[in-house]
Amino acid sequence: MTSKCCFTIGVILGLVFVCTNAQEKVFNVLSYGAKADGMTDDSEAFLNGWRDACIWNGNGTLLIPSGVYMINGAVFKGPCNGSVTTFEMKGVIKAPTDPNIFCNTGSWIAFQYIHGLDIKGHGTFDGQGDCAWGKHQCETLPHTLALNFVHNFVVHDIHSINSKGVHVKVFQSNNARFRHVQIAAPENSPNTDGIHISYSTNMHIADSNIGTGDDCISIIDGSQSINITGITCGPGHGISIGSLGKLSKPKIVKDIHVKNCTLINTQNGVRIKSWASTITGMATNIIFDDITIIKASNPIIIDQHYCPERNCSGSTQESCVQIKDVTFNNIRGSSSSKAAVSLDCSATYPCKGIMLNDINLEYDAPDGPAISTCAHANGKATGTELPPSCLN
Ligand SMILES: *[C@@H]1O[C@H](CO)[C@@H](O)[C@H](O)[C@H]1NC(C)=O
Ligand SMILES: *[C@@H]1O[C@H](CO)[C@@H](O)[C@H](O)[C@H]1NC(C)=O
Ligand SMILES: *[C@@H]1O[C@H](CO)[C@@H](O)[C@H](O)[C@H]1NC(C)=O
Ligand SMILES: *[C@@H]1O[C@H](CO)[C@@H](O)[C@H](O)[C@H]1NC(C)=O
Ligand SMILES: *[C@@H]1O[C@H](CO)[C@@H](O)[C@H](O)[C@H]1NC(C)=O
Repeated sequence: MTSKCCFTIGVILGLVFVCTNAQEKVFNVLSYGAKADGMTDDSEAFLNGWRDACIWNGNGTLLIPSGVYMINGAVFKGPCNGSVTTFEMKGVIKAPTDPNIFCNTGSWIAFQYIHGLDIKGHGTFDGQGDCAWGKHQCETLPHTLALNFVHNFVVHDIHSINSKGVHVKVFQSNNARFRHVQIAAPENSPNTDGIHISYSTNMHIADSNIGTGDDCISIIDGSQSINITGITCGPGHGISIGSLGKLSKPKIVKDIHVKNCTLINTQNGVRIKSWASTITGMATNIIFDDITIIKASNPIIIDQHYCPERNCSGSTQESCVQIKDVTFNNIRGSSSSKAAVSLDCSATYPCKGIMLNDINLEYDAPDGPAISTCAHANGKATGTELPPSCLN
């Protein structure tokens, strides 16, 4: 159960292992009464095991061995005593099928107020969303995994399938790495974003596959210093900054670097969107670099007249979010609609400093070739420009 906890003393008769100060310890949910029958709610066993792993004066690990566990809902809270507390999930954790159990509660599984967290183990979070999509009275369906006020964390080698709402939500959390994460939900599943980040800084999301019914990754207000590399996205709505200008607390989104990603059969490729509302904000220093896009409807899109729910056709309100210094470099592949590049900026706050360099997007259809459309978009185009740029 313990390791790295001993030092060796050579004595005349051989080696004796002396445990002085145990530093790592594993807490197995089965020892806390988890049934792992896929039916009985094991929440209490998980929470009791977590409590002990968390207060352990060293690095505690909550171990979920292989098997299928039903969890009605759990909030794993810190602060913990170890510098890193590990959630090692080898099994499958299933959500209840009835969405009313946690209607509008935010999340199914949450981690909160923790400094130093490692979520790993090749296991699967199964949100069982197929039983809830389109068949519930909730205003919002729960996220599968929420990380709220968690600092210094790593999420790697885990799967999340069929979340009822967003798969992974990160809020007010800093210094994080995601890698080798597999996220999957059907193309027609509503609002099942892969990873949704707000008010968080200093993250790297790497080498993961995300296919859902909404954005693969969405980054909204108050997020800074986020790198996204080696992501394969599709199906889904692409990689999005925004929607901005919806939350009442306006904040800047800046220093977002998306590099070496592939988007296949997505609705959008790389997108920045803001609501046509009076809420001010800014998105700046955003770089999309070395991106392959296969058959997206809108491979490159800035949409400052975003209005998916309300009827905005009579509105004259322009977005008050300033979009500035956005680079699209080496973006190639194909579009499934004629407007492969669409830069629809705010008349009140026109886009500034848009750089298009080496854009090569085919549109192979009778009404081809692809075109660009621009409104209030200022910047510079260099290198290959297919379709030809329409920047001011
Ligand atoms: C956790 O740390 C606190 C404060 O450092 C200490 O009082 C407490 O005894 C520790 N818990 C355990 C189980 O060692
Ligand atoms: C806890 O884990 C961290 C990171 O792996 C390590 O640096 C630290 O030494 C560990 N602490 C103990 C008490 O084992
Ligand atoms: C993001 O990438 C930049 C440039 O490659 C690097 O300087 C920065 O440290 C990275 N940030 C994170 C959070 O990974
Ligand atoms: C680009 O991402 C892919 C994963 O999609 C990875 O296999 C490859 O090593 C990455 N290339 C570079 C140069 O980082
Ligand atoms: C949207 O609103 C405008 C006037 O604001 C109205 O003319 C139009 O019929 C409405 N469209 C729908 C689909 O409700």
